[in-house]
Formats: sequence, C-alpha cells, structure tokens
Amino acid sequence: MKKRFLLLALLCFSVFSGKAQKFEELAKTPPMGWNSWNKFACDINEEIIRGIADKMVESGLRDAGYIYLNLDDCWHGRRDSLGFITADPVKFPSGIKALADYIHSKGLKIGIYSDAGRETCGGRPGSLGHEYQDALTYAKWGIDYLKYDWCNTEDVNPVGAYNLMRDALRAAGRPILFSMCEWGNSKPWTWAKDTGHMWRTTGDIYNAFDGVDERPGWKAFGVMQILDKQEGLRKYAGPGHWNDPDMLEVGNGQSVNQDRAHFTMWCMLAAPLILGNDIRNMSAETKAIVLNKDVIAIDQDTLGIQGLKVATQDSVQVWFKPLAGGDWAFCLLNRSKESKEYVINWKSLNVEDELSKRSTDFNKTIYVIKNLWNKKMEGNTKKDKKVLVPAQDVLLYKLSIENKKIK
Ligand code: GLA
Repeated sequence: MKKRFLLLALLCFSVFSGKAQKFEELAKTPPMGWNSWNKFACDINEEIIRGIADKMVESGLRDAGYIYLNLDDCWHGRRDSLGFITADPVKFPSGIKALADYIHSKGLKIGIYSDAGRETCGGRPGSLGHEYQDALTYAKWGIDYLKYDWCNTEDVNPVGAYNLMRDALRAAGRPILFSMCEWGNSKPWTWAKDTGHMWRTTGDIYNAFDGVDERPGWKAFGVMQILDKQEGLRKYAGPGHWNDPDMLEVGNGQSVNQDRAHFTMWCMLAAPLILGNDIRNMSAETKAIVLNKDVIAIDQDTLGIQGLKVATQDSVQVWFKPLAGGDWAFCLLNRSKESKEYVINWKSLNVEDELSKRSTDFNKTIYVIKNLWNKKMEGNTKKDKKVLVPAQDVLLYKLSIENKKIK
C-alpha cells in the first residue's frame, strides 16, 4: 500500500513538475545489435534487411544477445502533405511497419535513424521541426530504438534538441531506446544521463585498426584512436546510460587479431555492441569472435562499470574491469606490430578502483585464471605469469576469487 502511494506520488511529481523522463529499464546492460551503416552505408533495402533478420536468428546472434536490428541513414522517402515521414518507396516498398512486423516475428527489435537537423548526413529529411510527428510515426510503426544524428544542425542547441526528442518519444508512449549520435561535441556524458540511453563519444569509426582518415571538414578514426578518446569518461557510464565509442568494424576486413582486440576492448569499455558487418556472410573466425559468450558476458556484466587502464609497458596496455560477485576481467592489449613478451607480476598490478570501490589485493586474495579466448583454465594469481601477446591482439582473462585465502 505504502509502496503504491509512493509510486503514485512519484508519477504525479513527474507529470506536474513538467519534467519528462526517458524510458527507464531499456538499457540496464549495454545495448547489443546490428546496424546497416558500416557495411552498407546508403545501399540498404528491405530485402537486405530481411536477410539480416533471418541470419541474426540462424547464426545464433539473437540468442547471444544481439537483439536490435537497426536501419541507419537513407531509409527515408519524402514527407507527405501533412509533414509525416514516409519510407523510400523504391528501397522499402512494403513500408517500415511491415518490416517492423517481420523483424518482431523473429524475436528481434527494430531500430531506426533520424537527425536533429534539417537533413540527415545522407541528405534525407531530418526531424528538425517535426520531432513530435516523427516520434509518433516511429511509435505507430513499432520502432524500438532511435539513433539520432547531428548533421545540418547549424545553430541548434544540443541539450535542447536531444531533450526535445526525448520528450517527444515519451509523449508518443512506446518505449524506444534513445541513442544519441552527437559525436561528443558538447560532452553529452556531462549532461545527458536523463536524456539518452547511450551517447557517441567521438566522430565516426572507420575500418582501420590504427589511423585517422582525414578529409576536408571530416575525420574518421581507427579503433585505437577511438579507444584513446575514451580516457576519463568511465565515471559517466553505468546501467541505463552508456558511453558509445561507435559501432563495431569486426568482420569488415581487418585481421583476426585486430578484430579480436577491437571486440575485446569494446567489451572492456562496457560499450554498446552494435555489429557493422555483413552477417549473411561471416567467416568462421568472425563468428568465433562475435559469438564468444564469455567475452560478451564481460561487456554485459550487471555492475556496468567500464574497465580502467592501469599500466603501459612497451606498447602493451594492462586493463582491469570490475565484475559482479568480486571477479575481474583482465586484459593485455598489444598495440604494436610485433608480438611482445610480458611478465604479469600480479602484486605490482594491484588495483584500487575509487569508482567501483573495489580493489584486487593480490597479496591476500588468490584468483583462478580463465583465458576467455582459448577457453582454458590457466592456473592462478599466486605466481607471476609469463605470456606472449601477439601483435595487435589481446589476451583476455577472467579472474575469479578462489575460495581459500592466504593466511
Ligand atoms: C554520421 C554518423 C554515422 C552514420 C552516418 C549516416 O556520420 O555518425 O554513424 O549514422 O552519419 O549518414
């Protein structure tokens, strides 16, 4: 009774205080799915998307947690005479509602894309001035996820623009996960916790491990450059509100080692895992990476705390991520083009993490070591461990507390 009264009071408060809220409970762990942009850019159509939906089920991706199938830019047609957005009649002749029904029938959820400006980055109609109309349309179609971009916004204020769309989605009534794609320009991590479920922290990723693709007025970043740009942001993420270092390039042509490192670091960052490859034709190596349940579990850990870098030695970075139940993920990332020997001296790596209030204390606590890529048990943390980290690759371990403590 008391609880009910409190809930009612809370509801009244939020209605009468005029403060709209994003839909809670939608992203307790980092969202997982697939998005059309990295592989297909504007070349999408309903046949491709239906094929992707089929494969998400057949390949086991859906059951591994990848439940969002997200259309990116260029699905749009024109606005009708009343200003409502329509789908491109040539690429999506059956319309988005029919596609959403198909995707839902596969046990998946559907995401769509728009932009806070006049036009999207691909020159399709943006939502500026049509926010409530668009939110209503998405709700009617059965959309579950909106990625909201930032092209052609000119002097639009980002806080106002993203809160406006958040409020429009709330008013439309259908729970829609709100993915903010403002490239980190206004440091959304400092203001968007109650606005979006995730926010891009950087400009776009491109299909390179290490490098910057610089063109007039536009830059895209390799995996390592995006990783470096996450420095200092871990305290802003947590259940319901995630830093988004952009979608994955795994399976788009980098080496298996590089893909493994990319996927692992996104998991260490508790990043949304949004695949960007053609999952209709995945190699066995790509499948082994994106379907590794132990590694996905590091990303999806219920504590929702990003990993931290604790040391760097000769191109090898040492990362820890606190996990629920007292465990840790431990990762060595070799950024160089040569393999590196590394001696893990556990005691010298003791972590005192202020954010999670957790520490490793290798002097007192012994952890058993599981290698999450080769799936082997590899002893415990009593002794130093000498390892070889392949070039542009990782070693990823789960450290679990062994019952006995050293006296
Ligand atoms: C921007 C976004 C990308 C993608 C494209 C689509 O660059 O950051 O992720 O959505 O637009 O045009």
